[in-house]
Amino acid sequence: ARSGKVLEHRNSTWRLFDFFWMLHIMDYSERTNFNNPLLVSSAIGGLWMALSGVWLLFASVRLAEFVPARLRRRSRIHLVGSADAESRSVDAAAGDTVFQALARSGLQLPSNCGGGQSCGLCEVRCVGKVPAPTAADRALLPPHKLDAGYRLACGLPVGHGVDIDVGDPALLAREHTAVVSSVKALTPFLREISLRPARPLACRPGAYVQMHVPPYARDASHIDVPDDHRDDWHKAGTGGQLVNDAPLRRSYSVAVPVERADGHLVFLVRFMPGERPGRGSSYMYTLKPGDAVSFSGPYGEFALKPGAREKVFIGGGAGMAPLRAMIHALFAQGASEPVHFWYGARSRRDAPYVEEMAAFAARYPNFDWRLVLSEEGGAGPTGFVHEAVRDGLLRDHPNLALLEFYVCGPPAMLAATRRMLQELGVEDGMVAFDDFKV
Ligand SMILES: Cc1cc2nc3c(=O)[nH]c(=O)nc-3n(C[C@H](O)[C@H](O)[C@H](O)COP(=O)(O)OP(=O)(O)OC[C@H]3O[C@@H](n4cnc5c(N)ncnc54)[C@H](O)[C@@H]3O)c2cc1C
Ligand code: FES
Repeated sequence: ARSGKVLEHRNSTWRLFDFFWMLHIMDYSERTNFNNPLLVSSAIGGLWMALSGVWLLFASVRLAEFVPARLRRRSRIHLVGSADAESRSVDAAAGDTVFQALARSGLQLPSNCGGGQSCGLCEVRCVGKVPAPTAADRALLPPHKLDAGYRLACGLPVGHGVDIDVGDPALLAREHTAVVSSVKALTPFLREISLRPARPLACRPGAYVQMHVPPYARDASHIDVPDDHRDDWHKAGTGGQLVNDAPLRRSYSVAVPVERADGHLVFLVRFMPGERPGRGSSYMYTLKPGDAVSFSGPYGEFALKPGAREKVFIGGGAGMAPLRAMIHALFAQGASEPVHFWYGARSRRDAPYVEEMAAFAARYPNFDWRLVLSEEGGAGPTGFVHEAVRDGLLRDHPNLALLEFYVCGPPAMLAATRRMLQELGVEDGMVAFDDFKV
């Protein structure tokens, strides 16, 4: 400005270039220094992402997966323990997982994650040369199961010459149909949904079935919300579209023994609110009496143990479902041992079946029912349910070794309860639990 000397020539195209150059070298002030700390740290991060991506590619994808299934070497999976000679072995393509190969042959193992190695439901027992457990096997299966040869079928490649025990293959091939018989909103986000199966179905208390969820796109207004729950739904921001792009399966535990529900399957389903509400629970919440549904099962190992030991049930959220079924079954068969049920909820209006449990407690002197509220004071215990049961029952119990525990609830509650029981010295074998993973 002082000398009048021409320093640079600039035009609009250059300005555009300069803007993108600034973004490229991440020097947002001078636009000249491509050794600035922001760029250097981003470059190191980028290199790390690239290297870990290459490692993950080799660690998680097999070459055979890039070849279409029909061109791959064929192999067979042998199923042991099957009474049905026809289904003793199934066709498979090299590169498939046992989960995929069984599914192609119409044998669908239970799964909440569609083969994504995250739900832990697709376990099978390997017989013969058992492959080393994967990281997902170790994370999702307990040590005694790993030792017994159980592996997740969705992480188990075919072609290792192992035989597979899937229990009864006919159970995996069978699809049941049912009609929705009733829907009751028990709390703002817990609904009792009852189905009348086309054919009677035996279902042990603690078991679950897998609902077949079809693809759908519906407006959230399709869900009937009672007037006194509208505020809760509004606060949870559950408007907009409910969308599921592909068929999937979701597990729901029976909430009362079928023989005490006139053959109906009764579930207690929790809605999963959020920016993208849960696909399975949204489907369940859009069901209306008269709708036709399909499901498979029943499955699961969560069950009452034989014998008349003193029992402690600890639950929260939809974990009420299998525990309630077990408690119904116990009293139906005339249980005389002490039975304790500690159930945690945020407030009284989030707790289902409170009157029913209170009526049980009034009727059966050996039933001790405690509702533990974490966000609202009341006549009963308050705080977290695992702490309340520890302080109110377990700490002063004369012999914890005599107790049998049944635990089911949200992941944080389940983990805290299991940790608390371990700290009190309760043996793992005395604690049965069901992990819904949500
Ligand atoms: C053995 C067993 C028994 C069970 N029994 C019961 C029962 O009795 N009652 C019951 O209610 N449940 C039960 N469950 C849990 C149930 O099977 C489902 O896992 C649960 O309903 C959630 O499934 P969903 O399809 O609704 O949610 P998903 O669609 O799987 O989503 C899970 C969560 O992720 C969030 N999410 C999804 N997509 C996105 C995204 N793109 N971005 C951000 N967040 C996202 C959702 O909001 C939701 O909170 C059981 C599970 C198991 C394993
Ligand atoms: S299908 Fe979910 S872990 Fe295998």
